Amino acid sequence: MRKIRILTGDRPTGRLHIGHYFGSLKTRLEMQEKEEYEPYILIADVQALTDNFNNPEKVRKNVLEVATDYLAIGIDPNKTTIYIQSMIPEVAELTVFYSNLVTIARLKRNPTVKTEIAQKKEIFGESVTYGFLGYPVNQAADITAFEGELVPVGEDQEPLIEQCREIVRKFNSIYGNVLVEPKAVLSSTKRIKGLDGNEKMGKSLGNAIYLSDSEDEITRKVMGAVTDPGRIKKDDLGNPDICMVAYYHNLFSTKNEIETICQECREGRRGCVACKKQLAKNIIETLRPIREKRAYYEEHPELVEQILLEGTKKAQLVARETMKKVKKAMQLDYFEEEKK
Ligand code: TRP
Repeated sequence: MRKIRILTGDRPTGRLHIGHYFGSLKTRLEMQEKEEYEPYILIADVQALTDNFNNPEKVRKNVLEVATDYLAIGIDPNKTTIYIQSMIPEVAELTVFYSNLVTIARLKRNPTVKTEIAQKKEIFGESVTYGFLGYPVNQAADITAFEGELVPVGEDQEPLIEQCREIVRKFNSIYGNVLVEPKAVLSSTKRIKGLDGNEKMGKSLGNAIYLSDSEDEITRKVMGAVTDPGRIKKDDLGNPDICMVAYYHNLFSTKNEIETICQECREGRRGCVACKKQLAKNIIETLRPIREKRAYYEEHPELVEQILLEGTKKAQLVARETMKKVKKAMQLDYFEEEKK
């Protein structure tokens, strides 16, 4: 029986942080353990270039960083195929074919793209590039090249999967039933907030704890986290519901600890400094195995490269098969006899 193909990926624009961990990485770890699934993870360097075209070093460097993060958290290359997007030429070809099936107006209406364009005025000025506006088409190619059925992503990616589904339907209605229509699988854990209370954790916001952060960095960041602003002295009554330290205790501490912490805080019997130290310790311990595994791969980048190379070779074979079907359906299958 054919396995269900799972496809997801990340833009290599920075190292991964605990927001990624609770958001999508945990789901990926669970999925790779299921017999019925065949998971693929792409490192989307071509997509990263759509808004980092003037910074190729950054994208290049982060391909290895992100791959190292995957291995550190336990993505197992024997179960999950990890590959580099730019090394699959079929994806670029499909992007061109699909670009006939989507209008500019539809791309401009995509809520995710719309928000991103508004945020990236300093890169794009008044007029966005053709490449960036079209990245949902490229993402549709990523997914369909592998006949991805399930796409585990965060909420912000849902409009992109919806747009992919539309492209698939349009393609199939014109050229015949060739492409597989994917479904988004939203991760059960919600997006986690930054240490500063911002709704989003992100590199540009400077409020993230990275999987690769050292013990000292973690402690320093936790000590700077935002607590209940109404609480100035230790014996002021605190409100853990509006405290980022309490919010993170909920992710990293035991149930018993959390109960005691919240009660003592509400009664003004617990200082924020002690509370932060305890949180830092718990985060450090939780991330220890990841950090240690990461350190190992950092010392052996050749292992990471080998895994990427093998994953990419495997992925190339899959994309090639899809492309044969697509070209046949589109009547672009010239000279097939001679090739045999
Ligand atoms: N757009 C995704 C992100 O920014 C990355 C990505 C590229 C992706 N291609 C994909 C995700 C295909 C899922 C499927 O996180």
